[in-house]
Amino acid sequence: MHPRLTTLILALLTSLLSAQTSIFNAPDIEPFTYSGPSTSRLEIVPVEAQGFTRAMRLRTPDGLPATAAREYSIRVRALVPTELKRNDWVLATFFVRATERSGDTAFVKLNFERAVSPYTKSLSAGLPVPDEWKRYQIPFQIAENYNPREAYFDFWLGYDPQTIEIGGVKIEKQETGFNVQGIETGYSYQGREADAAWRKDAAERIDKYRKADFKLTVTDANDAPLQATVQLRMKRHSFAFGTAVVAQALLSSAPDDLKYKEWFFRLFNSAVFENDFKWPGFEQNRTRALTALDYLRDQGFTMLRGHTLVWPNFTYLPADLRTLANNPEAMRQRINNHILDEGRATAGKFRDWDVLNEPIPNRDLQNVLGDLEMVEWFKKAREADPAARLFINEYDIIPNAGANKVKQDEYYRLITWLKEKGAPLDGLGEQGHFGFTLTGIDKAKQIFDRFAELGLVIEVTEFDIDIYDEKLQADYTRDYLTLCFSHPSIDSFLMWGFWEARHWKPQGAILRRDWTLKPNGEVWRDLITKEWWTNADLKTGEEGLATQRGFLGDYEITVLTEDGRSKTIPATLVKEGTTLTIKLD
Ligand code: XIL
Repeated sequence: MHPRLTTLILALLTSLLSAQTSIFNAPDIEPFTYSGPSTSRLEIVPVEAQGFTRAMRLRTPDGLPATAAREYSIRVRALVPTELKRNDWVLATFFVRATERSGDTAFVKLNFERAVSPYTKSLSAGLPVPDEWKRYQIPFQIAENYNPREAYFDFWLGYDPQTIEIGGVKIEKQETGFNVQGIETGYSYQGREADAAWRKDAAERIDKYRKADFKLTVTDANDAPLQATVQLRMKRHSFAFGTAVVAQALLSSAPDDLKYKEWFFRLFNSAVFENDFKWPGFEQNRTRALTALDYLRDQGFTMLRGHTLVWPNFTYLPADLRTLANNPEAMRQRINNHILDEGRATAGKFRDWDVLNEPIPNRDLQNVLGDLEMVEWFKKAREADPAARLFINEYDIIPNAGANKVKQDEYYRLITWLKEKGAPLDGLGEQGHFGFTLTGIDKAKQIFDRFAELGLVIEVTEFDIDIYDEKLQADYTRDYLTLCFSHPSIDSFLMWGFWEARHWKPQGAILRRDWTLKPNGEVWRDLITKEWWTNADLKTGEEGLATQRGFLGDYEITVLTEDGRSKTIPATLVKEGTTLTIKLD
């Protein structure tokens, strides 16, 4: 074939493969309209040397209400004039800059949502807005079918006072062969750089809080020091690295379930059941739940998490709770009986219990019984299972750029209040479901530090990152996990599932359907089983002494002498350091 023709055909193919259609007839900012307080309005301003000529300028005024609705109390949006189908890929491109801001960074959130309740979101991407023009390109998939004018593109601006300009908006449906991994989103997070300052501090804290010294002396039967080889083999971390699991999979021998267990045992030393110990799940199949719990205990799992005794939203509760809304006394009894029943059935088997899940947005029970009833739930849980550490658990504390200050304050206040009122509360859970908007590492640390002041144990309870950019996902997994492992108040880090085929957000998994590890899985495996793992072969010195700094956890120590004597013992490296004498007969 003539080379020219080949080039032509190739060009044609490429353009066909990357075909896209603009969703708006009027390009750019034309379709967007303002809604919000009258103290602000939409201005159109000229722009130079950016490839677009005009931008929307929006000033977020001071004094917006301090509620969750604040975010969307000021917005510009555009109705989608075309039809879109579930799973269609759309690429949203736009430029933003901040000409005024209050804190370190200005902030905007781009949503694609159903125009009417329940406002189903295909995209909700909170984005930091720098002072210089920045291009974002955000690919996402449509969640449901839409006729023309049934969905909105919607920029939310209800954050701290700021002035933001948005221009060069292009919203295009991608036709075929769209390679999402190839898109330069322009999105990252503070602290991603290899030489970011936080890394050194975190490494020092990891050495200080997660490691200690073994001092091992080898003697003969008469306490005389011996020359010997000492093999240290780490067996298990004392820090909990866990995941959500499914009872049915743990109890099955189907080929995928065997793989599921194999990978679970390889990568985790702790677990939480995804749905089996929630109130409805437990009522539906208590035997299965308890059998799976015993199975994990038999496999040596001592750092298990119970989730959750009370998730106070009628949607997540047994159906009859709703019918008790007019009968507070019956509702109270029903809840207390449940806590005592489930707590006693599992007593001594969970190290931790989420007594109360997501109490800030979910208030169906508190609205009937009053807030003090939450204190009672904790007391009942303690009564049922006196040894378990009792937790409260909440989402959107660290994620989304840590921008939800209102919720952070509410969580902080609620915990303080519960303690004041005498709730036996030992720890707080920070779920850690990340979406498009990651949180800078310094910001995440600030928020953890603030909650650490409450003097409770902190656990990351439900980590996942629901984004398609696998490199970004892997980098953030590495950095967030490192930050958390280095934080003295945190003692557990649990993922919310690990296998794509059993994951509530399949994109968040670390293992693909075909059981290959994704880049975020490689990061997890390398940190947990290699970098933060201690194996060493030592020789005792003059005094029969061998020392080694290692990660806290359980070990097997084998001593070998040249004349062929040997002994293997289990040992635990504790925070204070572990000093042992190993006597050979
Ligand atoms: C989710 C499960 O993953 C789903 O399978 C279930 O349908 C709904 O609940 N916060 C929580 C978890 O505390 O219990 C939720 O789990 C995810 C959000």
